[in-house]
This record gives sequence, C-alpha cells and structure tokens, in this order.
Amino acid sequence: MSRAGGTHGGSGERADEIGTAPVGAAREAGDAGDASVPSDDSPVMLATTEGRPDLVVTEESRAAARRQAGMLADVKHSPGVPKPDPVIVVDKVKRSFGGLIAVDVAHVEFQRGVITALIGPNGAGKTTFFNLLTGFDRPDTGTWSLNGRSLARVPSYRVARLGMVRTFQLTKALARLTVMENMLLGGAGQRGEHFLAALVPGLWRKQEKLMEQRAKVLLERFMLHNKAPDFAGTLSGGQRKLLEMARALMVEPTVVMLDEPMAGVNPALTQSLLAHVKDLRDQGMTVLFVEHDMDVVADISDWVVVMAQGGIIAEGPPHVIMRNREVIDAYLGAHHDDPDAHASEAAGAAEPVPPERADPVPPAPPAPPPPPPPRIGAVRADTQDRTDTARTHEKGQA
Ligand SMILES: Nc1ncnc2c1ncn2[C@@H]1O[C@H](COP(=O)(O)OP(=O)(O)O)[C@@H](O)[C@H]1O
Ligand SMILES: [Mg+2]
Repeated sequence: MSRAGGTHGGSGERADEIGTAPVGAAREAGDAGDASVPSDDSPVMLATTEGRPDLVVTEESRAAARRQAGMLADVKHSPGVPKPDPVIVVDKVKRSFGGLIAVDVAHVEFQRGVITALIGPNGAGKTTFFNLLTGFDRPDTGTWSLNGRSLARVPSYRVARLGMVRTFQLTKALARLTVMENMLLGGAGQRGEHFLAALVPGLWRKQEKLMEQRAKVLLERFMLHNKAPDFAGTLSGGQRKLLEMARALMVEPTVVMLDEPMAGVNPALTQSLLAHVKDLRDQGMTVLFVEHDMDVVADISDWVVVMAQGGIIAEGPPHVIMRNREVIDAYLGAHHDDPDAHASEAAGAAEPVPPERADPVPPAPPAPPPPPPPRIGAVRADTQDRTDTARTHEKGQA
C-alpha cells in the first residue's frame, strides 16, 4: 500500500478524493443553496436521534482513548488474555462448514475504546468471525457478549441497534438506491417503522428530519455529499467503502467493525481513511478492523489479534506481533491456495518472496533487528475474496 506523501491524498480534485473534514466543517460548509435542509433546525455537530451531539473529538474523548490504550500496557502478550475493560468477550465460539472448521476461538476479549486489528492469512476465519459476532451467521457452539449482554441468537439488525455495526469486505451498498437512501436505510430503528407509531406523523417526522441531517453531516465528512442524489452503483470502489463506513455510523454505534476497509481503496486515499478510523476511536468508539497491510496495522492499531486456521494464535501490541515467529510462520505457511506463492515457495523456502502486490511498499519492516523478520504485510488483502460468507446476503443487490 502506497503511503503517498503521508498527507491527505495529494491527489487534488479527484472525483474519488476523500478527506477528514473537521467536525465543524460540515456546519461551516453550511448547506447553502440546498433547499432540502430546514434552516430552522440547522444541525449542531452531529444531531442524533436523542438530539445530542456525538462523533465529536474533544480533548476529553481523546484523553479517554489514550487511557483505554494505556491500560493495555500491563496486558500479557498471549492469546485469549483478559483485558482490563473488555467491551466484547468471546468464549468457545466455533463454526464449521461441512468438515472445515472456519472459526474455533477458545477465548478472546476486545478492549473498549481502542483500535484492535484482527490479522491473519486469507482463509484464517476473520470474516466468518465478524459474521458470527454481528449476527450475520450462527456459530455451532459458544457464547459472546457486548457490554456483558449475550448476543447469542440476536439477529444482525438488533446487534446494530445495540451499538455494534460492521462493514463488509465486499461492499454492500445498494446500487439501485441513491447514496442518501443508502444512508437513511442505515439509520435503523426509526419510529415510523413501527405500525402504531407510523400512525402518528409527529413522532416520526422529527426523527426522519434528524436522520436526514445526520446523513448529510456524515456524507460531508466522508466527502460524499455531492454524490447524495446519485445511485450508489455509480460510486468508485473506494467511495463505496466510504459509504459503508458512513452508513454504519448512522446508528450511533459504540463498536465499529471494519472488514478490510482499505482493500480496493485508491492508495492516495488511504491516509484519509486511516484518519477517519483513528477519529472513531478518539470519539470514544471501539474499533475492530481486519487488515493485511502491516504498515497500516502498525500505524493505527493499539492492539493486534492474530487468527490462523480459525483460532487466535497471538495477541499483543503491533511492534511485538510483527516479530512473533508464530505469526510470521502462519502468514508464510498460508499461501498454499495462492498460485503466486507456489512459485515463491519453490524458488526458495529459506528466504520466501512475498507474492505480488498491487501497490508498492517499502520492503523492510520499520526497525528490523538482525535477522530481519519477513514482511507479514506481504500477504495482501484479496479484495474479491470469495470466502466471504456474507456473499449469501448479496442477493438482490446489483
Ligand atoms: N459460506 C461458506 N461456506 C463454506 N465455507 C466457507 C464459507 N465461508 C467461509 N468459508 C471457509 O471458511 C474459512 C474462513 O473463511 P473467511 O472467514 O472468509 O476467512 P478470512 O476472512 O480470514 O480470509 C475459509 O476456508 C473459507 O473457505
Ligand atoms: Mg475475509
């Protein structure tokens, strides 16, 4: 993944440019000239269904995020280790497909208010694990909880209402709806959806207006506001990723799970996307994200959980994980299904050559001790990963 410039984009006025608009920017940009926005009710920060602002980075929220991350300093670097303030606790969750065990997690806890990267080779079970946690799939056995509340048998839409949202490795934007319509669909739990409440327009009109305001502010922040009336199908791959992220934020989540948010995104835009992810944490959310690029992982994560063959094989801070022999072996041994890997394995097992990357990355890890560990990030995200169990949910989408 190119680290182009290290600044926001550098790609000028590209149609697919994104950026981290400061929170106030949406307000300042105003909605001048947009008659659809009620002027009597201009949004203050990000209006929520409760009428209070959220998704705002303040000194306090940033300091809180630092405290949450700081607590991890005393946590042992071993798989399944308890966390000081866990928001998600997973116990003996197992999922098999026929004879294949896709997920077999004995125990794992995710610390509240920090960014945890979930890494592992293709086929390790990361997407399936996300599907299980968010109710898009059911495990054979096991329990897991959000804030101490069991999520077993809780359907995905209710998991979202409880504050845990996710994006998909393969984006799920509804191509034949507009960008704005996609956003409003993301605002689950509207009062108008309930039969009785629907009979009382006063109840839902106000909420509908708040939802629209929230959608507009989020679209501004993700630089998609000009696309609001366009069909989602006209967006670039990177913009669809952004739309997914923006849409996930419609429900005022406390936990955001991102399945390969950078995959397929123009490298010039990744810095902005990374800044958005950091912002989520600094606003007080817990972020779990799947990522293959170890530069990205090292840059933004407070903690790394490593999966291989369905299980958790390692945990720790990024710099520790990148030097973990077991982790490196898991990555290097994982490419039996990758034709490129056969070539490199055959070429020399002692000094494995990373498979082709679409995006140039400096080959060395940040501070290589002698002998330097192989690049974990060499295992690229396969943006069209066919193992995405969620593909069954794509039906009906163009
Ligand atoms: N719906 C499914 N049916 C059968 N096998 C599946 C299904 N979903 C995932 N798998 C298998 O489960 C394993 C884990 O897949 P996945 O969770 O997508 O891995 P990752 O996201 O880490 O690349 C893979 O071997 C994959 O082929
Ligand atoms: Mg996956």
